[in-house]
Amino acid sequence: MNKHTEEFMSAKAGLPPASWSAVGKPNPHESAILHVTGEATYTDDIIELQGSLHAALGLSQKAHAKLRAVDLSKVKASPGVVAVYTADDIPGDNQCGAIIHDDPVLADGLVQYVGQPIFLVVADSHDAARRAARLAAIDYEELPAILTPRAAHEAQSYVLPPMHLSRGKPAEALASAPHVLNGKFDVGGQEQFYLEGQISYAIPKEGRAMHVYCSTQHPSEMQHHIAVVLNLASHDVLVECRRMGGGFGGKESQSALWACAAAVAAARLRRPVKLRADRDDDMIVTGKRHCFAYDYEIGYDDSGRIVAAKIDMVSRAGFSADLSGPVATRAVCHFDNAYYLSDVEIHAMCGKTNTQSNTAFRGFGGPQGAIAIEYIIDEIARNLGKDALEVRRANFYGDSSGEGQDARNVTHYGQKVEDNVIHALVDELERTSDYQARRAAVQAFNAQNTILKKGLALTPVKFGISFNVPHLNQAGSLVHVYTDGSVLVNHGGTEMGQGLNTKVAQVVAHALGLPLDKVRCTATDTSKIANTSATAASTGSDLNGKAAQDAALQIRARLAQVAAARFGVDAGAIRFADGLVIAGEQTVPFPELVMQAYLARTQLWSDGFYSTPRVHWDSKTMTGHPFFYFAYGAAVAEVVIDTLTGEWKPLRVDSLYDAGDSLNPAIDIGQVEGGFIQGMGWLTTEELWWNKDGKLMTHAPSTYKIPAISDCPADFRTQLFRNSNVSDTIHRSKATGEPPLLLPFSVFLAIRDAVSAVGEHKVNPPLRAPATSEAILDAVDAVRAAAI
Ligand code: MTE
Ligand code: MOS
Repeated sequence: MNKHTEEFMSAKAGLPPASWSAVGKPNPHESAILHVTGEATYTDDIIELQGSLHAALGLSQKAHAKLRAVDLSKVKASPGVVAVYTADDIPGDNQCGAIIHDDPVLADGLVQYVGQPIFLVVADSHDAARRAARLAAIDYEELPAILTPRAAHEAQSYVLPPMHLSRGKPAEALASAPHVLNGKFDVGGQEQFYLEGQISYAIPKEGRAMHVYCSTQHPSEMQHHIAVVLNLASHDVLVECRRMGGGFGGKESQSALWACAAAVAAARLRRPVKLRADRDDDMIVTGKRHCFAYDYEIGYDDSGRIVAAKIDMVSRAGFSADLSGPVATRAVCHFDNAYYLSDVEIHAMCGKTNTQSNTAFRGFGGPQGAIAIEYIIDEIARNLGKDALEVRRANFYGDSSGEGQDARNVTHYGQKVEDNVIHALVDELERTSDYQARRAAVQAFNAQNTILKKGLALTPVKFGISFNVPHLNQAGSLVHVYTDGSVLVNHGGTEMGQGLNTKVAQVVAHALGLPLDKVRCTATDTSKIANTSATAASTGSDLNGKAAQDAALQIRARLAQVAAARFGVDAGAIRFADGLVIAGEQTVPFPELVMQAYLARTQLWSDGFYSTPRVHWDSKTMTGHPFFYFAYGAAVAEVVIDTLTGEWKPLRVDSLYDAGDSLNPAIDIGQVEGGFIQGMGWLTTEELWWNKDGKLMTHAPSTYKIPAISDCPADFRTQLFRNSNVSDTIHRSKATGEPPLLLPFSVFLAIRDAVSAVGEHKVNPPLRAPATSEAILDAVDAVRAAAI
């Protein structure tokens, strides 16, 4: 058991939280008690003001059509309806596109997917609004619709120009490669399935100002969009979010529609308006993880080392650009995963389809980039009759500590990998998971069983941390120390369950030498910190932790001056610990010193700021140093499949994740476990299915299967790798939000390994993701057919 895990276990055993003030301790989530007692206030729990109204959206029934006539008379006449609005009623611009202005709030003359909002009904109750929204009579002039990425690619229908990255001489390397393999692979999308759906509650204020409570990862962008649709200035709009019941990327840009629609209604009616999406509407209207289609050509040598790689990737962007460009960029930057690719050529296309506009989802294209190379390595290993782990090792980036390996340490986009720990990490996991003995046991099992087959896989993760767009890597904070010694922290990040506020509070408590219960984080509020970035790209605690530390250290320096005068010592000799301010033998309780400082007219609050050093990126050549550092991990999964029904079960999972010097091992282990299971859902049971008319048929948990507790591996072991970030991050920690989502590649490839056993590992099973029971059976059939 390593240090972090020991602490986590003692936390589980119930040691008193008071002893856990410092960073690095497994403090429970700051709202844990509130979450489990139901006291935590989500947007829908905010006590409604008198006169509040409720809104619902009227949705397109066609995938692509001109709106010939929209008759809303029955909607208006429906009981309880107060107002009905269309695009014409928007006071400012009818636009909420994240980067490109191709995202109308309400459709104007043209609909581009089934579910696109056409009008907004406001009524005296949520139910009345929803009932009325169904009564529209719309005359559509249907147009041809494109539904899949491959169809979009064929029609050259893209939301953005294609992206290209190449290094070395891939064509020549391919021509001279000892072995070549061609193939294609398809990976499905994924619904974010945050437990709290999209919601905004807009309250008009004096002088046309607007206050919007919004479940969003990006309050500043919501503020901007609301100002645009209302034709106001940013200072007229306040957006506030205490917490989300999950975001997972789905509330990074796509909370905008709901925020803008609620704000338009509130502005026109001068009454508070709440817009809460019903689950089905939420799933039908909003974008998801991009599904990807790949075509690849790979050259490799006898050891399995890749000498040339060419890949085309096409994503399903949906009808508008949203974040599809940055998602594709991250996919391109993560095609290497943990492997050195000397000669490589990548083309990435964002297919324009008549479906929901796809968006951020945990990993943000990283998982879609990296799974392709893992699928390919799995094939190389099978072709060579080697264990895939051996082939993975042959391709790893050189150890950063190793000598003479520099050339094998530069990514295809030109960033040198300076912190590679994948060798040591995988060695440790191979040992602790008993990989080799279990490989033999799986083989023995498969030799004796014809119907049930077991599979095993170990997959690594290397994930770049920072926004690819350098200017987004900045954050601000505001820290107040009150005269009683209590501390209030505000920062630009948002809390979505990931524990950001807990970590930031720990950082501030540590800086001021206080127990954690003396520090409180408040709601994210655009009137406190301006121009914030989305809480995304796993950078929340890196950015906001540093910004909050900056503010706290400024206050500490001022307090140290006061204490130095009091004790007659140098300010450098003052320490802050255990709620005391200390100079050698002399101490004063923190609140007492604070009061003294106040009486001496010392500023007891401070702002703080942080911008990530070193990051730069050239989007034209797709080269630069986009990531401040890399996070690493690996997992081993063992599964069993039933070759008659396609059912499967994860038997045991071992994960080892590099959280650096973890700020909070309990929260980090939670993130690793949660990310693992969420990624496992993406690759196995979560299947999005549109009918031939482009209607999403899997729009509720009845038809869309996310993992339940019963789907988790019975034997589920998660450890943090002992490491310290070589980059100067907050207390040398590493991000944990997204990278663990890539760990369950091991589950998918263990399933593929089990299918492969049907053909004595002689045939590469054409397994698509998600590996639903149907997909597993298809792959089993294909292996059987090929093996004959
Ligand atoms: N964990 C929980 N419980 N809920 C969430 O919505 N979102 C994930 C991850 N972990 C999420 C989560 C995503 S997509 C990101 S980018 C990070 O958290 C964002 O938070 P961080 O940067 O503070 O880690
Ligand atoms: Mo996370 S997909 O970067 O919100």
